[in-house]
Amino acid sequence: MKKLRVGVLFGGRSGEHEVSLLSAASVVKAIDKSKYEVVPIGITKEGRWLTAGAAEALLQGKPVDDTKHLRAGDPEATPGAAVLASGESVVVPPEPVHRSSLAPFQTDANLRRASDRAINVDVIFPVLHGTFGEDGTIQGLLELADIPYVGAGVLGSAAGMDKDIMKALFRAADLPIVKHVTILRSDWDAEPKKAEKTVDRALKYPVFVKPANLGSSVGISKARSKKELGPAIYEAAKFDRKIVIEQGVGGAKNKAREIECSVLGNDRPQASVAGEIVPVKEFYDYSAKYLDEGSELIIPAKLTKPEMKEIQELAIRAFQAVDCSGLARVDFLMDPKTRKLYVNEINTMPGFTAISMYPKLWGATGLGYSDLIDRLIQLGIERHGDKKKNQYSR
Ligand SMILES: Nc1ncnc2c1ncn2[C@@H]1O[C@H](COP(=O)(O)OP(=O)(O)O)[C@@H](O)[C@H]1O
Ligand SMILES: [Mg+2]
Repeated sequence: MKKLRVGVLFGGRSGEHEVSLLSAASVVKAIDKSKYEVVPIGITKEGRWLTAGAAEALLQGKPVDDTKHLRAGDPEATPGAAVLASGESVVVPPEPVHRSSLAPFQTDANLRRASDRAINVDVIFPVLHGTFGEDGTIQGLLELADIPYVGAGVLGSAAGMDKDIMKALFRAADLPIVKHVTILRSDWDAEPKKAEKTVDRALKYPVFVKPANLGSSVGISKARSKKELGPAIYEAAKFDRKIVIEQGVGGAKNKAREIECSVLGNDRPQASVAGEIVPVKEFYDYSAKYLDEGSELIIPAKLTKPEMKEIQELAIRAFQAVDCSGLARVDFLMDPKTRKLYVNEINTMPGFTAISMYPKLWGATGLGYSDLIDRLIQLGIERHGDKKKNQYSR
């Protein structure tokens, strides 16, 4: 049987570049080599795509020779039909090009077309977290290039990334979410007092202030009083034009319990057992996630049977609410006193090292890491096949 060529995409321009390197290294190590041939594709922090040899070095943390670029997509369309017919063709390469995003479309026999230099893979596993990886941008490129890929599509990725839109979809699906207010940076810049008042009136302290689109807890802070609200918004506004401010679960006295559940599938997704994270810090901030030792994973989470069942059902509904596919980790906050559950967020490309929560929850549910990777690749191919059934015009 011919082996499938799997492009493992990693690195990227997000703050989670390094996490991605770790996740990808685990995937490359564990993937079933009798079925798959791995083509590692690295994206530098600057957004340059590297060929296999250099990509492997990047994966191992060695310095890279990034003179060789890859162009995965070749969207041949340009804005005007006239340009298409007779103009000088250009491609939009999947990397930020100095000064202009339009690269010359080479026709000279020696300077081959960008499409000729495209990577040749059957499916891509974008092991990319955060901005430009988990937000629909890379998914859009792969859609244009017509390459099957693992995980959520453009819509699910983008919706899952934007905490404001995600909450709107969760609410529409009748999922329990915390009370929140979304403000625009421009409104905050223009009338900070008014913005503060809006929050102050709608919510009780403590509140959590977050940039709508990011991850890894970057830009997030807990404001315990009105005095702390301004600085928290100021911080979050550095990272996004939308700021989400939420009621703190647990109130002033208690910390929220953090329960997570893994979901796998396309149209008929399944949920794993739920696990719990006990952060060393006051909340699960960036340093607790990646720098400090000691945050504890408890699998399965200490919950009653009905609670566990409820979480699994909510996780599947959250997955469907944002039109996800492939995989997602759904994170919950639980009030330790009342045991009331809230869906906090969905992560469409959760941390994926062999010891990350997502695969560990599947491990505890009976699906090992290598089999999980295998399943995800199959789901990606399935989704692509399903999409191929669509006709785009009469
Ligand atoms: N409403 C809330 N109540 C209590 N704790 C919260 C709340 N929102 C966030 N947190 C804490 O902040 C952490 C990061 O918030 P989260 O929304 O998960 O952002 P990210 O997408 O960066 O992971 C959570 O894991 C939790 O510890
Ligand atoms: Mg989170």
